Amino acid sequence: MPATSQKVFVGAGERVPEGGRLVVDIGEITIGIFRVDGNLYAYLNRCAHQRGPVCQGKIIPRVTEVIDSGGESHGFAFDETHLHIVCPWHGFEYDIKTGAHPGRRSARLIPVTVEEAADGIYVTV
Ligand code: FES
Repeated sequence: MPATSQKVFVGAGERVPEGGRLVVDIGEITIGIFRVDGNLYAYLNRCAHQRGPVCQGKIIPRVTEVIDSGGESHGFAFDETHLHIVCPWHGFEYDIKTGAHPGRRSARLIPVTVEEAADGIYVTV
């Protein structure tokens, strides 16, 4: 990123629908912008694993294992309260709201400041 940051217009708010994403190139960097529960989140398009294009992966709810009080597994279920982005290279997942890998706290996406104004979406790079 440049030594001095700048606010860059990336488009109208409708370009990032609820549960969706917009991937944009700004100079030498690529940024993924997501909307979850009405709020915007943005990250560099660089996976913490091997720098894959994580923001271009599938968006899916978190998968959890259903375990009863006796410790028996009853299969898997989607947790619709947590949306994840899945890196297309090797499957690392990140919570879109936090940028954190759910099982490896040291693996997280690099956040980018994003804001929505009356005329659209801006990121600071
Ligand atoms: S580079 Fe993303 S999972 Fe490997």
